[in-house]
Amino acid sequence: MMLDRDVSVLYDDWIYHETTHCTHGNEFQKTAFGVTADMLMTGLWYYGAEAARRDIVQRLLNCYLKASANRPMLITCFARHGDFKAWYTERLSLDLGLVGSQTSDELLCGCSAGPRFLFNKACSTMIKSQISEQHRVLALQYPIDDLDNALERAKHGHVWDPASLSRFSSDSTHGLLTLDLEATPRVFWKQSKYNVAEVQGSMLAADYFPLTQRPLVTSSGYLLCPEFLGKTQADWRYGYCSGEIDGSIAIPVILDAELRKAEDAPAAYVASYGKSSGCDRPLVNRPLYDRVAMEGTRLAEMYPGGIDVQDQRLALHQIMSASLSINGRSYLSLRSILSHSLARLDTQHCAMGPIVFGLGDAHGGNIMIADELNGRSYRDLLYIDYEVSGFHPLLLDLAKPLYNDVFFSTLMGDSLAMPGTFTCIYRDGAVIMTLDRCIDDLGEAILEIKKRHLIEPIRAYMTTEEVALDEFVPCLAHASLACALFTRDYTGHWETLWRNVCIGVVLSQVKDFDGLWEEFDGLVRTRHRH
Ligand SMILES: Nc1ncnc2c1ncn2[C@@H]1O[C@H](COP(=O)(O)OP(=O)(O)OP(=O)(O)O)[C@@H](O)[C@H]1O
Ligand SMILES: [Mg+2]
Repeated sequence: MMLDRDVSVLYDDWIYHETTHCTHGNEFQKTAFGVTADMLMTGLWYYGAEAARRDIVQRLLNCYLKASANRPMLITCFARHGDFKAWYTERLSLDLGLVGSQTSDELLCGCSAGPRFLFNKACSTMIKSQISEQHRVLALQYPIDDLDNALERAKHGHVWDPASLSRFSSDSTHGLLTLDLEATPRVFWKQSKYNVAEVQGSMLAADYFPLTQRPLVTSSGYLLCPEFLGKTQADWRYGYCSGEIDGSIAIPVILDAELRKAEDAPAAYVASYGKSSGCDRPLVNRPLYDRVAMEGTRLAEMYPGGIDVQDQRLALHQIMSASLSINGRSYLSLRSILSHSLARLDTQHCAMGPIVFGLGDAHGGNIMIADELNGRSYRDLLYIDYEVSGFHPLLLDLAKPLYNDVFFSTLMGDSLAMPGTFTCIYRDGAVIMTLDRCIDDLGEAILEIKKRHLIEPIRAYMTTEEVALDEFVPCLAHASLACALFTRDYTGHWETLWRNVCIGVVLSQVKDFDGLWEEFDGLVRTRHRH
């Protein structure tokens, strides 16, 4: 990640190696340089310093050859970052030629491997950075009376833009509007049932997150903030997945934001841990526990006419009591699983685990990335939407970002192409499903970032505090099911609904972190388990 001017911290291994499959299902070994090695191998600094260069290149190439066991090599394993010039890659091919290896862009079956993200399984990094920037808060600098008046004038003019800015929001109405104010003519407005929580959350968030906004509440109940020139990480992601934004532009922006999130969240956890005496009714549980508790009503509200399995319409009670089979494994009915969810998401139960400050809803739809680089040559990252932020169980704080960001294209499957293949039938009172590889490449990379830089380090930190975070993983597991079932209404998009049910149900059964990673691994590269 970029810290300041040209100073970067690279969370990286030298060489990555994995066994993977091409689109034809052929197995192949993939070995690639990490970004750090890429930079050393291609950095301008050693051109002209041949003696130093030769030694470094030799060592790295030897590591590389050993890791790849001299299998055919792919030219895309070098200099994968778009900023590297073509001639660096050529130079590296020459270097490899010198140590007696051929490079090739093609797999043996002829399909192109393409650039992919590779991450190692090791998890060790947590930067407890003292170098991170000063916390900043964006707020309108006007007395509230002036804002009230300006708002009234705007309402009578034609500068009111009620259009929703985001397809990822649920509870509020919001937009941008132009006020006759000198310094900040365009402001962001939001109307929500949870104004108080939003404002209180923003105050706490400012203590723990680098860049936040402080909404001002007008007497007519509008929350106002200065306009932030940017779009959310989820907007970038959607743009990339729908083909509107080219991957070479979108991917570095999305992954850079992900790395910074994965630094900011654990830093907030560590800084806030032990600072709260308890949490009677954490706000974060509103979209999780409450929705599960209202299971009948919530689902009946969304799907009053029932739900389709293949082309067969089933009543909700049939769906709730059907037993489930996913990739050959049997699960209880949704009704039984959700009754377990209630126990696991119960406030008292979750609160036995560590309580920290978290944003609660910090998925990509609530992180804004500035359009332009700031003076220090990186893009500002603004954390928004504080309605459920506060002191609450750490594991519940992880749930929404983990589900929404990793399974983004399945969560948005009503309007995006979904990865992998899926089948679903209803037979003898059972819904039988198969789901193959349901995480796209970007989701896989994000999963690895969250795992390596956020979850495993905070797990290790909690061990030093003598807290076994693993015991509370079932809270996260059942919260994931709630995310899958209740985030979006999939009426008419039944395959999307069932795919999310599959993922949610599989995750709901997880008992500890090892189990969680194993299930994720299965979801990344499912071969059907019969
Ligand atoms: N200061 C700002 N300037 C410009 N756009 C903003 C600003 N703050 C938020 N937005 C945009 O407005 C959208 C909605 O804001 P926010 O996430 O706070 O509300 P919401 O998602 O409707 O709330 P909820 O998630 O509770 O339903 C964001 O996704 C973002 O695109
Ligand atoms: Mg939001």
